[in-house]
Amino acid sequence: MSWKVEYSDKLTTADKALDLIKSNERVVVGHAVGEPSYLLDVMVSKRKQYENVEIVHMVAMGKCDYCAEGMEKHFRHNALFVGTGTRKAVEAGRGDFTPCFFYEIPSLFKSGILPVDVALIQVTPPDQEGYVNLGVSVDYTLPASKAAKKVIAQVNNQMPRVYGDCKLHVSEITAFVEHNSPIIELRPHKIGEIEKAIGENCAKLIKDGDTLQLGIGAIPDAVLLFLKDKKNLGIHSEMFSDGVVELVKAGVINNSKKTLKAGKFVASFLMGTKKLYDFVDNNPDVELYPVDYVNHPVIIMTNDNMVSINSCVQVDLMGQVASESVGLKQISGTGGQVDFVRGATMAKGGKSIIAIPSTAANGTISKIVPFLDEGAAVTTCRNDIDYIVTEYGIAHLKGKTLKDRARALIHISHPDFAPELIKTYEDRFHCKF
Ligand code: COA
Repeated sequence: MSWKVEYSDKLTTADKALDLIKSNERVVVGHAVGEPSYLLDVMVSKRKQYENVEIVHMVAMGKCDYCAEGMEKHFRHNALFVGTGTRKAVEAGRGDFTPCFFYEIPSLFKSGILPVDVALIQVTPPDQEGYVNLGVSVDYTLPASKAAKKVIAQVNNQMPRVYGDCKLHVSEITAFVEHNSPIIELRPHKIGEIEKAIGENCAKLIKDGDTLQLGIGAIPDAVLLFLKDKKNLGIHSEMFSDGVVELVKAGVINNSKKTLKAGKFVASFLMGTKKLYDFVDNNPDVELYPVDYVNHPVIIMTNDNMVSINSCVQVDLMGQVASESVGLKQISGTGGQVDFVRGATMAKGGKSIIAIPSTAANGTISKIVPFLDEGAAVTTCRNDIDYIVTEYGIAHLKGKTLKDRARALIHISHPDFAPELIKTYEDRFHCKF
């Protein structure tokens, strides 16, 4: 059968396609801005026909109605990362959180630890050979689709077409629903004076020719502001956003010195505005791959001079980093932080940076603390930590004693909290600061 006939046979309405989901099944939703919002809206509107459907999602950028109050009987959210839209549900017990490294998520689906009944994804229309393209989110979305018993795809002509390992054949999908709508956008973050100072300090650690991984948020965006005088930078990152496009135009990022896939941006998903989506669309310099490739520490380390930049909630005086919970309250997830900390540290000439404002909650709490809050999960352990950066400077912890780590961290803490930290230091190490 030609793919065109197969496609038209499988083309249906959202209402009919979503009848493929049965009670007690596990549904994996396409990641981040790749989520098929239209399918989710229709699924929620049909909630009365479902009982106890598990919704597995990671960075959920849409409305997250499936975990709103009143949905408990129909849907149970299983978060691989907790975001703004899902925090309340997880805290209230309407959802669960599964700890995991980002790079290992595909293997959870493929190995059958988390068997996938249904993958709900968003794709481009098929190309000449009958392949649809996953566009902005390949990450776990492609492996989950390959592992799923049923795949329901929203076909959106506004989804960018990317290069890499990012396609499914029409024959691999169970039902197609055509619905065109703009891809969800992530607006650039507000960058204040503190973020600028942090960005400037991080930029001191970045050399011409380095390959970068940048997380999401104001700090990564601020780092990019201070890279305008660098040359020949490259990107190997689980995701990237609009700030990178500016630096390509400025001739700063060209991927020319990369030791893995020279000349190419390598990523697993993308989040930004239409400016980013237009930049990546049909751009042979941008390649997206599943996250078990992009985020695998052994792949990351093959990039010489790899620098990773991520953020955290708290760091204690030993260098233990809590990035995903405030005490017991889960506010995000491990994501790719540890994947990149390890990969970058193992790379020849590599560095990993955790960059944070010295305080949180409008300056009322220090992020550098004697002890992590009770119940906090250690995301990056003290042995893995390399650099911590705040607006007050750079602390290089790798290879340092506990005492020297504590001193280095106190030097970059906020002056309002330094006296208390110094007291802890003197009590713990029985010596003057
Ligand atoms: N004590 C109490 N609350 C704290 C805190 C602290 N030490 N540090 C942060 N918070 C609170 C903030 O007040 C904010 O609360 P609000 O949403 O109610 O205002 C919330 O935690 C998030 O903090 P914010 O500073 O806005 O977050 P961010 O967008 O800069 O993200 C992380 C910071 C750590 C949450 C984020 O980088 C993350 O999830 N990291 C782990 C995953 C990762 O690194 N992935 C790799 C790259 S994608």
